[in-house]
This record gives sequence, structure tokens and C-alpha cells, in this order.
Amino acid sequence: MPDRRTPLISGNWKMHLNHFEALQTVQKLSYLLDGLLDGDESAAVEVSVHPPFTDLRTVQTAIETDRMDIVLGAQHCHWEEVGAFTGEVSPAMLAKLNVAYVIAGHSERRELFAETDEMVRRKAAAILAHGMTPIVCVGETLAEREAGSTEDKVTGQVRAALEGLAADAVGGLVVAYEPIWAIGTGRTASAEDAQAVCALVRATVADGWGQQPSATLRVQYGGSVKPGNAAELMSRPDIDGALVGGASLVSEDFAAIVRASRG
Ligand code: 13P
Repeated sequence: MPDRRTPLISGNWKMHLNHFEALQTVQKLSYLLDGLLDGDESAAVEVSVHPPFTDLRTVQTAIETDRMDIVLGAQHCHWEEVGAFTGEVSPAMLAKLNVAYVIAGHSERRELFAETDEMVRRKAAAILAHGMTPIVCVGETLAEREAGSTEDKVTGQVRAALEGLAADAVGGLVVAYEPIWAIGTGRTASAEDAQAVCALVRATVADGWGQQPSATLRVQYGGSVKPGNAAELMSRPDIDGALVGGASLVSEDFAAIVRASRG
């Protein structure tokens, strides 16, 4: 069992920043994080950025040329390796760009692009098969929270997304708990509520895949994470990082969130 799970702070840029703006943003972020990510083990934090597809090659080149400690991520992919899927990008293409983390099942994809649990499951398996790590997003709507069905919704999404995966694969995964009512609204789940659902995600994994993977799985919280609330959220035992939208577009804010997440 690990003494400490290394927190993962991920910036989901969504459909923001063209490739020129992306380059400036990652360079500024790297400058602001200088010396922060390669400290001693007990304070280590991992940072990923998830630009739009059109920016990936530019950001990859910047990260590798300048030997940044930042890791490249993507926001989405298809599950097939190649084929007639107009507009889609395959996990093999992302792996070729040294993408390490791919978001799967973000609520915006589920709600606006009709992604189902079954599609998220296929994507998670395909991402793993190409040597990358899925960040599987789960979370309830406001109506579901008010109806008291948060627990059912989140456990159901976790089970469906990870179904069929081996325990050791599950142990290396990232699950992001993102209550839909907290995304882009400025309304954050309280640290107690976020901790309770992140613990529930871990318990669901323990129940289905065993203690070992549940102890190493990382669970992020996402939904209006800002410099002012990050430290409190990250201090909770089952919250192992953050999936950050709006604040990740402002390098100073994102760097402050990373700083607040150090052990
Ligand atoms: P905000 O941080 O803008 O609320 O977005 C959260 C999110 O959806 C990250 O994936």
C-alpha cells in the first residue's frame, strides 16, 4: 500500500485556446511551476494539461523541447484504433503524441454528445490498451442530488465504466468526481460532500475489484476548483487531486492550485 498517493492536478482546457495561445499558456505555466514539481517524494504533485486536439502537437513539442515537468493529456478519443469514423481521433494517435492521460466520459460529452456508460467503458479499455491512463468522469445532476440519488448514480457510473477491467489496471486509474451542478457555476461541493463521494468511489472499487486497487486508485474532485478552495479540498483523505476547467486557462490560478495541493 502506498504511504501517499501522488495528487494529479489536471487542466481541462475544453474548447478554449488556439495553438498559439496554448503554447503561451503552457510556457507560462511551466515557468510558474519551476522547482515545484521535482521536490521530495512527500510533496510530489503531478500536473497534466488537456488542450483541444488541434493544440496537442504544439504543446507536446513545447513540453519535450523545454523538458517541462508537465504531462500531456487529451479530452476525448474514440475506442477504435483506425477506420471510417469522421471527426474522431483514435487512442493510437494520442499515444503517438506521448499523451499520458485521456479524459473519458466528461459530463459535457455525456450530456451534449450523448455518450453512454457503454461508450465510456469501451473508451477506458482502449485508452488503457494503448498504454495511457483514463480519467473517468462521474457525477450527479442537481436534480439527482436533491432527489438523494447521488450514491446510486455515482456507483452505477463507476461500475459501468470499469466493468471487465483487471484489478491491476483499475489500481492505476484516475476517477474524477465532478458534480454537474458545480461545473462552471462557481458553486463548489463542500469539502465534506466531495470527500464523502470520493470515498464512495473508492469503496465501490474495493467492493468490485479488491482492497489493493482501491488503495492505489486516484480520485480527483472537479467543479469550480479555484486557488481559494483547492487546499481545503485537497486536504481530505480520499481526494487525490483536481480536474480543473476555467481556472486552468489562467496560468497564475492553475499554478496556485498546484501549489495548494502539495503535501
Ligand atoms: P470548472 O472548473 O470550470 O468548473 O470545470 C470543471 C470541469 O468540468 C473540469 O473537467
